[in-house]
Amino acid sequence: MKPFLVVLIILKLCYSAKILGVISFPSYSHQMFYRPLWRELSLRGHQVTIITTDPMNDTSLTNLTEINTHVTYEALARHNILDAAAEASLGAAVSLLGGLLQDLTKTHFNVPEVRKLINSDAEFDLVMFETQIFAAPIVYSWRFKCPSIGVTSFDAAMEYHYNLGNLVHPVVNPDFNLYVKNTSHMSYFERVKSTVYSVLLNYYMYNYYYPIQEDVLRGFFGSTMPSLWEMTKNVSMLFIGTHPVLHDVRPINPHTITLSTIYLKPKKPLPTSIQQYLEESQNGVIYFSLGTNVKDNVFNSEKKNAILEAFAELPYNVLMKAHWVNIRIPKNVRMEKWLPQHDILRHKNVKLFITQGGINSLTESLSSGVPVLIIPFFGDQLTNTQKAIKMGYGLKLDKNLITTENVKEKVTTLIKNPKYRERADELGKILLDQPISDLDKAVYWVEYVIRYKGAHHLRSNATDLPLYQYYLLDVLMLFLAITIVLLVFMYRPLKMLLRYLRKVIVIACKKFFLWYNNRKFVTPKGVKIV
Ligand SMILES: *[C@@H]1O[C@H](CO)[C@@H](O)[C@H](O)[C@H]1NC(C)=O
Ligand SMILES: *[C@@H]1O[C@H](CO)[C@@H](O)[C@H](O)[C@H]1NC(C)=O
Ligand SMILES: *[C@@H]1O[C@H](CO)[C@@H](O)[C@H](O)[C@H]1NC(C)=O
Ligand SMILES: *[C@@H]1O[C@H](CO)[C@@H](O)[C@H](O)[C@H]1NC(C)=O
Repeated sequence: MKPFLVVLIILKLCYSAKILGVISFPSYSHQMFYRPLWRELSLRGHQVTIITTDPMNDTSLTNLTEINTHVTYEALARHNILDAAAEASLGAAVSLLGGLLQDLTKTHFNVPEVRKLINSDAEFDLVMFETQIFAAPIVYSWRFKCPSIGVTSFDAAMEYHYNLGNLVHPVVNPDFNLYVKNTSHMSYFERVKSTVYSVLLNYYMYNYYYPIQEDVLRGFFGSTMPSLWEMTKNVSMLFIGTHPVLHDVRPINPHTITLSTIYLKPKKPLPTSIQQYLEESQNGVIYFSLGTNVKDNVFNSEKKNAILEAFAELPYNVLMKAHWVNIRIPKNVRMEKWLPQHDILRHKNVKLFITQGGINSLTESLSSGVPVLIIPFFGDQLTNTQKAIKMGYGLKLDKNLITTENVKEKVTTLIKNPKYRERADELGKILLDQPISDLDKAVYWVEYVIRYKGAHHLRSNATDLPLYQYYLLDVLMLFLAITIVLLVFMYRPLKMLLRYLRKVIVIACKKFFLWYNNRKFVTPKGVKIV
């Protein structure tokens, strides 16, 4: 073979893979997390195609193609998942969520460009898809017959850990969607609840949430398509957005890679007016933002007024990312529709961050050494809040208990007591103290999976074990069976043996007492019986 051909082949093998990335859930924070990775992979010469709900439109990235599925936001808007969370009956909550999943699947796979891709003869070396309850996009790895990596911007849901052979223990690591007061000290009731929850979650995934998405998918991919559950077991690697200062430590196999700071960008200069505002706030600034998923109408005007009144009575300036209309804004409060959050948090005058407790916000706050006051709403926010309290860099403000007094008291505690800031600073250092950057780590493992065609040597034996074998149920059954058999068959002989033994004991006792009563007393020397 000619040398230049060999060079070309090696280049192709190492440097130019075809990668398909699918971040399917309509949420800006989910998209933002892996953007630097798509960018970096394309800059390193890989041909990257991204199916995303929020394209970057960066024309300088010539090796990156984006397919826009923004229309799935409309599917999300048609179903109010907050209603599902608030629903008292389990059945009603399950069917609300089921309806959303069905709609998301239909909407996503009906996007013309997506259909074109599916029906094309495109080839890929790797599919990276978002792992979550909207599970349908895993089908891309089956469609293109190539290895896959599941990615998520927070911890993976329980069924993914389970299907990929990571230890799932409802008491060591309760699912992040289940609210537990103190995960290092669960009450008996909570332990029962978490166990039932994990069984039910797997049950509904397997029997309901996955099948209704499969029904829609078979319309696009035909009836030979295997089940999503089966496809999950073929996933080569899992990228999760966790870190021990943000989440409880959990046991994971070598194919599960943790990334938490991958999306953090280098510091950029602030817009002049914001920079000036922060500089001039000599008493310090509170930064307030409830993220992109919590809408401005979550508080009624009474709550909004209570918050603003508290701010008015505090000696600090407040910078708010919000759009509250028809309300009196105090003069120490500045409200903007959008703000460069991380760069603001990194300004030395920012003393506190009031947040909804999304994991990306907490990461940005810690990496800037700023303590937090969290008003959690849904999903992992409650769990994140408990962890922040436990780690000592934040406090919780219950969304139903918002009063002027309450807000003032919590803000003052967090700012006046230096321990919160010191702790945030220390934890931020731990968060960023890593042997290699999360971005380099992710690129390394992506290329590793491509190089070793799925890296199946990392697969755990647990992946193929049925539930009953994994939890030793069949082994325990044997012991239980032996005990039962013994009890049943040995009942009569045992009873007879016991009766015989009793007789023997009675006779022995009688003999002993006879002997005891009849024996002669020998009075020890010096003892006088009176
Ligand atoms: C695109 O990929 C090629 C190799 O396939 C590489 O040489 C080039 O630098 C990449 N360009 C950009 C802008 O990423
Ligand atoms: C990218 O382009 C799409 C449609 O072409 C547009 O809707 C979207 O707002 C753009 N995104 C950015 C970040 O500019
Ligand atoms: C959680 O439980 C642990 C262990 O019992 C205890 O040390 C810790 O103080 C508790 N944390 C909170 C926030 O209650
Ligand atoms: C799993 O991977 C194997 C080997 O790559 C392949 O033969 C099989 O069809 C895949 N199964 C599913 C359900 O994707």
